Amino acid sequence: MNKHISTPLTTDEIMTKDSHLIQSFANLDGLKQNDARTAIVAADGAHVSDSQGNRLIDGIGGLWCVNVGHGRTEIIDAISEQLRTLDFYSTFYNFTHPKAAQLAEKLAQLAPGNLNRVYFGNSGSVANDSAIRILHHYFNRLGKPNKKKILSRIGAYHGSTHLAMAMTTPAYSDGWDTAAEGLVHHLMSPYGYRDGDGMTEAEFLEVLAKNMLDAIHHIGAENIACFIAEPIMGAGGIIVAPDGYHKRMREITAAHDIMYIADEVVTAFGRLGHMFASEDVFGMVPDVITTAKGLTSGYQPLSAAIISDDIYEVISQEGAMFLHGMTYSGHPAAAAAALANIEILESENIPQRVQTTGKIFENALRGLTDLEIVGEVRGSHFMMGIEFVKDRVTKESFSDDLNVAFQIAGECQDRGLIARSLGNILILSPTLILTEPQIAEIETILRESISVVSARLRG
Ligand SMILES: Cc1ncc(COP(=O)(O)O)c(C=O)c1O
Repeated sequence: MNKHISTPLTTDEIMTKDSHLIQSFANLDGLKQNDARTAIVAADGAHVSDSQGNRLIDGIGGLWCVNVGHGRTEIIDAISEQLRTLDFYSTFYNFTHPKAAQLAEKLAQLAPGNLNRVYFGNSGSVANDSAIRILHHYFNRLGKPNKKKILSRIGAYHGSTHLAMAMTTPAYSDGWDTAAEGLVHHLMSPYGYRDGDGMTEAEFLEVLAKNMLDAIHHIGAENIACFIAEPIMGAGGIIVAPDGYHKRMREITAAHDIMYIADEVVTAFGRLGHMFASEDVFGMVPDVITTAKGLTSGYQPLSAAIISDDIYEVISQEGAMFLHGMTYSGHPAAAAAALANIEILESENIPQRVQTTGKIFENALRGLTDLEIVGEVRGSHFMMGIEFVKDRVTKESFSDDLNVAFQIAGECQDRGLIARSLGNILILSPTLILTEPQIAEIETILRESISVVSARLRG
């Protein structure tokens, strides 16, 4: 559907005003040139439109989040109806409201095991910070105040608040500070293509398990609160751990009284073919699941830290105060958006459909492995990454200043596809409603774009 997009501002006017706006994770120096920026002015279905009138396939789903596609009137109507009924009230002290209560119950039903208690935030970063604060308090209440350290992983991305960034891979804070010095220990990345080179998956899994056990013995289980892990690492470059990894890590942490937080900010709500990936894809039930993004498909900022009944039991015992709170926790409009979004996911069987279309997408991208500079295509369903290398045999990387993936993303955009570059990796995390012809179009654009840049690099 090609609809005419009008915006009251010209591209030049937007860019002039935009010089006051600070974009996230941006090369601020590079952005001083207007032509380095794209203004997205409208969206529908699997597409967005820019201020120059270009219609582009949204290959990154907003930012891993617009799972049900853009412009769903059911969600938009639910938000506006909610705002007309109750625009805002916070879920603080003894106050609640119907939509937050309904959504909490719904998430408890959808989440695995006895993860039945929900704390709402407004971003994935806040969900992760909340999870850590809750677990620290939990251990304080159990009389184990030394259990504070957090095990995370090289390559992880858990957000940009001070604590979430401290849990994120150190590369993301280059030149920036961390307020949580010494609190977080980063384990090895389960990056099979590089760190597991020359090993079978089973052998690499043993290396990773030993790395975890060594860290526990070195730090002391009595000092460790939790392990936090994305089921598949996203912003670290789509890193898929070896088979059995999460179950194994769960066994090790459980044996040492270390809580397991599954950061499902990206993987929940259908991206891997299930509402939550922890149990249905990876066969394990963590103590806490954090989620955001696909929870509302991005229509409203909302996140959740979903904790087990066991943790809740301890933090809600007699005399316990929950000294943690966000004004907008469970915002009525955001909760209404999430409920309408989940209703669409369920009534249209989107996670089940992803089991088919996501596999078609995955296989289409895997077919690009024949291209000379494609080192590895990895990921699962609608969460995919392509790593480019100078030499496929030695896996030698391109030097960073060539910005290979950035060049390829630029070629993709010229051909009608938004993809995300990250060093030498191109990331695709589209809406979950892609049709087979749209998947074929993405494949064609990727093939052409990679080939053009590959030829350019050969000179
Ligand atoms: C796995 C993961 N966790 C947490 C976050 C942080 O979420 P937010 O940007 O909403 O704070 C992100 C964001 O991309 C993420 O990918």
